[in-house]
Amino acid sequence: MADLSIDFAGIKSPNPFWLASAPPTNTGYQVQRAFEAGWGGAVWKTLGEPVINTSARFAAVHFGGQRVAGFNNIELITDRPLEVNLKEIYETKRRFPHHTIIASLMVEPKREKWHEIVKRVEAIGVDGLELNFGCPHGMAERGMGAASGQQPDLVQAQTAWVKEVATTPVIVKLTPNITDITVVARHAVKGGADAISLINTINSLAGVDIHSWNTIPNVGGQGAHGGYCGPAVKPIALSMVAECARDREVGVPISGIGGISTWQDVVEFMLMGSTGIQVCTAVMHHGFRIVEEMIDGLNHYLDEKGLASVTELIGKSVPKYSNWGDLDLNYQVVARINEENCINCNKCHIACEDASHQCIDMLTNAEGKAILQVREEDCVGCNLCSIVCPADRAIDMIALDNGAAPMSWNQRSRIISGVNGAYSEAEAG
Ligand SMILES: Cc1cc2nc3c(=O)[nH]c(=O)nc-3n(C[C@H](O)[C@H](O)[C@H](O)COP(=O)(O)O)c2cc1C
Ligand code: SF4
Ligand code: SF4
Repeated sequence: MADLSIDFAGIKSPNPFWLASAPPTNTGYQVQRAFEAGWGGAVWKTLGEPVINTSARFAAVHFGGQRVAGFNNIELITDRPLEVNLKEIYETKRRFPHHTIIASLMVEPKREKWHEIVKRVEAIGVDGLELNFGCPHGMAERGMGAASGQQPDLVQAQTAWVKEVATTPVIVKLTPNITDITVVARHAVKGGADAISLINTINSLAGVDIHSWNTIPNVGGQGAHGGYCGPAVKPIALSMVAECARDREVGVPISGIGGISTWQDVVEFMLMGSTGIQVCTAVMHHGFRIVEEMIDGLNHYLDEKGLASVTELIGKSVPKYSNWGDLDLNYQVVARINEENCINCNKCHIACEDASHQCIDMLTNAEGKAILQVREEDCVGCNLCSIVCPADRAIDMIALDNGAAPMSWNQRSRIISGVNGAYSEAEAG
């Protein structure tokens, strides 16, 4: 069995599975039960003031029969007094000295406020700090959370203030509600961040009740924008992790967060550059014990791949994440339909007719049976038919050798603009 332990920016953890700062990490009772279930670490529900909240505060998007495809909240940071949280963190760390406890912090952008909370929290023995510059609602209206996180200079300054007094590693948690995540990530690093974590929730409105005309959720008939998370946000989170992982100026360990609910998701985030991961929505939906399946699945996967340690996965796919301009425009795939697996539902034909290149023909084979066939010379290899096909292995996307040498847009542009001198526009194709 592979070694699942990680060293995250100097923070040791028995495995990469951490609970994200959220309702499941609100109390010592919960975090201790989570550790017993197998979670390697927990980022405590964000500490700070004031101690207030709303009722109601959650909503979900159910889609195509799947409950909680996306989750939305207008919750604030902890609504429990700081002393109570500190006492429970202390007790939990004493009971589980080898598990990881990170304190998530949020205060006003004032140097002395950061110094004060960092000293109080580190005094009770946490393994690290996570600065919450991501919460998009409630706290943001008062200049904290995402309001800070959307101002790169403020992220840098606050991180530097924390680093002035911190003795444990400092993780900066980023908001996705920004145009280019790497800008803020770089500023966090300039401020001295030992690591970054991403993503926090995405600005959202979960829905509107078409009968009462109230937003979902509503607080006494009024709604406000909330934060979106859960399986629906995974592609956004993964791309932001990838952008940070390949950015040389970021260059610190990443804790990947956003829509993780299976061991496969964990593997994907680690391949894309995360040293560890954090989970919130999947635990709110299914409970702490989902970690058992994640650990089992990850163990089997690592054994199957012949990897001795989970750390061998970190960043393996980062070199495969590039820019559009560097993609080989001469690479070509085409769709091929396997008659034996096709159930003749015609979905591929309709998709190709209405939304692609009209190159799936409806024919009759020698036995008089209706079949579908792709005219490969007209197929652009867009993948659409294979995406809509409901039958397993009925459509394969096949790479063709078209004899053309690899040529990316950037290479082509360089040739056309004469940088390489030797080629003409005609040669560029
Ligand atoms: C109800 C709720 C409360 C949350 N509270 C916090 C918080 O106090 N501090 C924080 O940094 N993130 C908070 N988050 C964000 C999560 O930590 C996490 O970044 C986000 O939910 C994405 O992960 P997921 O898709 O696994 O849920 C909260 C999320 C939810 C759903
Ligand atoms: S890959 Fe695209 S173009 Fe080719 S058959 Fe399928 S839908 Fe049509
Ligand atoms: S969508 Fe798939 S199963 Fe349906 S007709 Fe096309 S190949 Fe066959």
